[in-house]
Amino acid sequence: MKQITCIDDLREIHQRRVPKMFFDYVDRGSYAEETLRANRDDFQDIKFRQRILVDISERDLSTEIIGERAALPLILAPVGSTGMQYGDGEIHACRAAQAAGIPYTLSTMSICSLEDVAANVEQPFWFQLYVMRDRGFVKALIERAIAAKCSALVLTVDLQVIGQRHQDIKNGMSVPPEIFRLKNLIDIATKPRWVKGILAGKSRNFGNIAGHLPGSKDLGSVSAWVASQFDPSLNWKDIDWIRSIWPGKLIIKGILDVEDAALAVKAGAEALVVSNHGGRQLDGAPSSIEVLPDVVDAVGDQIEVMFDGGIRSGQDVMRALAMGARSCMIGRAYIYGLGAFGGPGVTKAIDIIKNELSTTMALCGVNSIEEIDDHVLAL
Ligand code: FNR
Repeated sequence: MKQITCIDDLREIHQRRVPKMFFDYVDRGSYAEETLRANRDDFQDIKFRQRILVDISERDLSTEIIGERAALPLILAPVGSTGMQYGDGEIHACRAAQAAGIPYTLSTMSICSLEDVAANVEQPFWFQLYVMRDRGFVKALIERAIAAKCSALVLTVDLQVIGQRHQDIKNGMSVPPEIFRLKNLIDIATKPRWVKGILAGKSRNFGNIAGHLPGSKDLGSVSAWVASQFDPSLNWKDIDWIRSIWPGKLIIKGILDVEDAALAVKAGAEALVVSNHGGRQLDGAPSSIEVLPDVVDAVGDQIEVMFDGGIRSGQDVMRALAMGARSCMIGRAYIYGLGAFGGPGVTKAIDIIKNELSTTMALCGVNSIEEIDDHVLAL
């Protein structure tokens, strides 16, 4: 582990240890991947202002995220099928986040269920909701999230239809995953560590969904049901309905436009996440970091603005905070760690980003998260 110094190292090991179909599912983006690339490239245009001879001996990276103290301005983003990267991956990731003092978000499309995770972790976690056509099922999911004592609901709104990832089709990462294709079987045979980890895990199905639908026990029928359930008719009125069932904090994830940000404020959400789903949905959309300052200008004083898309380092977190984000979600960065080493790999990913953020703050002459704004940038 000592030889691992950056998120790219974790990515490389993930790629070696996890079957190609599952690695590509994480790593790739939709269509021509223009937005996926822009998420990374646009960060590199943002330069810091180096400051010297400031007393930076007492740096504090803690902050408040929707009213709760957090050790870092960082959140583990919802990632579907996390438990296919490593057995019981959701439980390992949640434990690592809680040990680091930051929130973890469980996806609707997780392998471990809400109940699996709640039974195996110490503190509340966040739940991410996809609103399915079957509103009875959605209501039941929200009730399960309440029973599991989830401390925030992250409503993802940028997936009414599904953006295509070419590589997933080519790999047979479809509905259901075609692991019995000869090419995939040969690949899996070279990944014994992954097989061992998956077999050691207790959950091997979409736990929030399987078993909660009559007659849908196997992966194929569950996935087919899910594919038919994304709802193109979803609209702002549905948010009012969700508000009426969910009594806790609501975070709207997938905002990329100033007008939508204003509507999220009107809908009474506590926070919004500027996000293009990690370049997995609308290809040709701007990078998240490009639209962040406009969203912050428009609504930053009315709602907590969170950010995700392309973060691979503490420097990137610093850039997003400097552009006005109050906290950042990471997706791939921690999944690379999970695929590489399980729970300790997630801890490693968080530590890498934390140390990079701490050093970047020091070299920019700031001691606290609250001090970070555009004065740290060389504009
Ligand atoms: C995602 N994302 C996602 N978002 C969500 O709301 N529900 C989900 O189930 C998923 N699933 C998912 C799977 C995988 C493999 C990835 C990479 C991403 C999007 C995720 O929450 C987040 O917005 C992005 O990952 C942020 O971009 P980076 O950090 O991966 O660049």
